[in-house]
This record gives sequence, structure tokens and C-alpha cells, in this order.
Amino acid sequence: MKKIKEQYNLYTYPAPIEDMKKAIDNGYIDLSDANLFWDIFFPDKTYTDNLNVLIAGCGTNQAIYLALANPNWKIYGIDLSENSIKFVESQIKKYDLRNLTIEMSDIFEITGEDKYDLVISTGVIHHTKDPKLALKTLSSATKKEGALCIMVYAKYFRTGVYDLQKIFRYLGIKQDADGIKFVKNYIENILPDDHIAKKFYKSTSSEIDTAIVDTWLNPKDTAYDANDLKELINGTGSYFQNWLDNLFCYPQAHFDDFKNDIDLSLLDHLDPIDNMDFTQSTMLQAKKHTFILRKKKEFEFKWSSISEITKKTRIKNTPFVKAAEKGDLSKNYGGQVFYQRFKGARCPKFSAKEGIVWSAIIQGVKNNVGSSFNDVLLLSNKIAKDNNLNLSFDNNEMMRILHRMWKLSLVTFSETEVI
Ligand SMILES: C[S@@+](CC[C@H](N)C(=O)[O-])C[C@H]1O[C@@H](n2cnc3c(N)ncnc32)[C@H](O)[C@@H]1O
Repeated sequence: MKKIKEQYNLYTYPAPIEDMKKAIDNGYIDLSDANLFWDIFFPDKTYTDNLNVLIAGCGTNQAIYLALANPNWKIYGIDLSENSIKFVESQIKKYDLRNLTIEMSDIFEITGEDKYDLVISTGVIHHTKDPKLALKTLSSATKKEGALCIMVYAKYFRTGVYDLQKIFRYLGIKQDADGIKFVKNYIENILPDDHIAKKFYKSTSSEIDTAIVDTWLNPKDTAYDANDLKELINGTGSYFQNWLDNLFCYPQAHFDDFKNDIDLSLLDHLDPIDNMDFTQSTMLQAKKHTFILRKKKEFEFKWSSISEITKKTRIKNTPFVKAAEKGDLSKNYGGQVFYQRFKGARCPKFSAKEGIVWSAIIQGVKNNVGSSFNDVLLLSNKIAKDNNLNLSFDNNEMMRILHRMWKLSLVTFSETEVI
């Protein structure tokens, strides 16, 4: 699309980070980094840093971050925007990156099948003329054992954005300095305070011009609810494995205070996409959907059914979850953790049993692979005994606790054996 190419050439996205090494030292990450979230991407595969990766629509920073963070990956990045490509090239020279090749090219020009272990395309296909065809193309390029990390916009929190895009289109607002000024004034001063778009505006980087253009003056952007998402994925040759982050896609965290009002087990039979729909139709927080697709159907909705957990399942705590408060087991309080990545959002308080299981998981993590279900079970019972608590865990209860922790985005599961 000519308009999209022009936009991302003029307003390269995201705002370029000149010193990515420093940003990484200060904690910058990109969610597509499978190295950080290995079990979420590849629950079936022993960890390797030797991946052949395609980044389709890499923009300004993503390819540089991934190449610096994963020196053994072999990365090929493409983007429509000449200026984004120029910026990435300058960074490749600056850091003498040998593991990244970059090219100005269109997703629809990708040829070849079964080439990549991992295909990343975040915030891209919803700007194309045919997102389904784009996904099909990306899927074909992925190896049979491979995975895709895809991000598309979510309807929920973005609904107001489309009202405003329409308004700015009626008025013929252009993608230039005057247009940006107009958009800001319209939203800040003319729009009623309770308009959902205003809430969205406040939650984004509205001080950055390129972000204003990308959100409010974008000529082509499609957002997805659950049905749209299923429709998008269906027939592309890949299957929905899991959300990158379950926190906003399962209702457990948000409804913890309303356990007596709502029986969440009524949702157990729903697939992860419908669980997200339930959660976000209430919470309206989701601006985007980031998820993992796999070529093999056997990974469809992996772990969403509790029956997939076996004695061999390996359990690991997710990165960026930190202890917030110590528990008091004698008062049936198991402590609390918070999610570092979500401005300190707290997890529901643990019961004594959940707190014990959590400590068993943390203590048991071996060589970064996690502990087996059996190890967690044994250690949890030992912790209970060592603390003179009259508590014990059986298989079914352990499965329920772990599956709830998975829905709360506190643990990941994998099937790999420890060598
Ligand atoms: C919102 S940015 C996202 C950049 C990057 N993926 C990230 O997450 O930071 C979208 C990028 O996709 C590129 N793009 C849009 N349509 C494309 C297409 N058909 N082929 C290749 N790149 C495309 C744009 O030029 C832009 O750089």
C-alpha cells in the first residue's frame, strides 16, 4: 500500500533508539525475543540459541534489539520503509552486527517455504491490504517445527480509536505537523473526558509525533476481536498455540475478588481466544493481541486444557515476576507477587498452599529448564512438613494450582526432558 509505505517512511516507527546497547542495559526488551520466553514459544523444544529468524516489518528498533540480544541467531529483516531500513543499516554498521541482514521489501514478496525456525511480525499485517494473505505467506516461510510470533491490534480498548480516525478522515487531516497539532487539540480539548478514545490517548506515548500519526492518522489499520482473530488464522497453514501473556487473556486475575459472584470454572471449556474475549469484553484493556502460532496442529491451544499437564511436565516461573510481599503460612497467607512488566500490577494474593507451590517452583528451577511436576509436588509437601503445617498436596490439587498459575501468567509449562 502506497500510503502505508509513505507514512512509515516519513514517520519511521517506533521512534528510533540511537543507543540500543544502553537501552538493553537499562532493561529494554522486545516481546518477540524467544530467548526470554522460550517455553512460551517452543514448549516442545530443548533450548537453543541457534535460530534462523525472519522479521517481517522490522521497523526501526526490533531487528537491532534482537540481533544484539541474540548474537547466535541468524536474522533476516524486511520492511517497506526506506528510512527505517537506512536507520537499521546505520546501526548494523555501528555495532558491526554480522548476524543481521536487512532489505527493503514487502511481505507479499517473500518467497520460499520451510525456511525459518521463527517468524516475527508484530504490528505489521493489520496495516496490509490483505492480512490473511500476509499471514499465509509468513506461515509458508516457517519451518514445520517452527513458530510465528504475531501481533495484531485488538478491538476492545481500541474501539474509540476508529471513531476518531473517521473524524480526522472527514476533516481531511493530513499526516504533517499541523495535522498532529490538530489531533492533539481535538482529543485533549474537544473530546468529552469520558470518551474511550481519550482514555486510550492518555495510555499511549502521545508526546511522540510518530505515535500520534501511527494511531490516529493511520490510513490502514484493522483491529480484531475473538471471531476476527479466528477467521484471520483459519486456513493460513498455522495454528494458534498460546498467548504470549495470559494475564489479560484469562479472567482469573481480575475476578479474584468476585469468586462468590462468578463461577469461573464455567469458562474452562472455552479455548484461549474465547477466554480472552470474555476477559476483554469486561476489562477493555487490550490494545493488541500478541500470540504464538505453530505449523503443527498438535500444538493448537497448548496447555489450555488442564489434562495436558502430566507428571513429566516441566514448570518454570515466568520472567519479570517478582516477590512483592512475604506470606504468613500460619494465617493461610502465601504472599503476593507482582508483574514487573505491567507497571507493578499485583497478582491475587496466594493462599498458603499456592505460596508453598510458588516457593517450590522458585527453589526448584534447575539450569533454567524448570522442575518437573513431580519435583514440585515432592518439594511442596516437604516445605509444608518442614513448616509443621498440617497440609499436603495430591496430584489433582497440584494440577489445579499450577493451571491457575499458568492462567495468571506466573508459570510456563514445557515438555522437554532435562538431559
Ligand atoms: C508499527 S511498525 C512495527 C515495527 C516493528 N515490527 C515493531 O514491533 O517495532 C509497522 C512496520 O511494518 C512495516 N510494513 C507495513 N506493511 C508492510 C509490508 N507489507 N511489508 C513489509 N513491511 C511492512 C512498516 O513500514 C513499519 O515499519
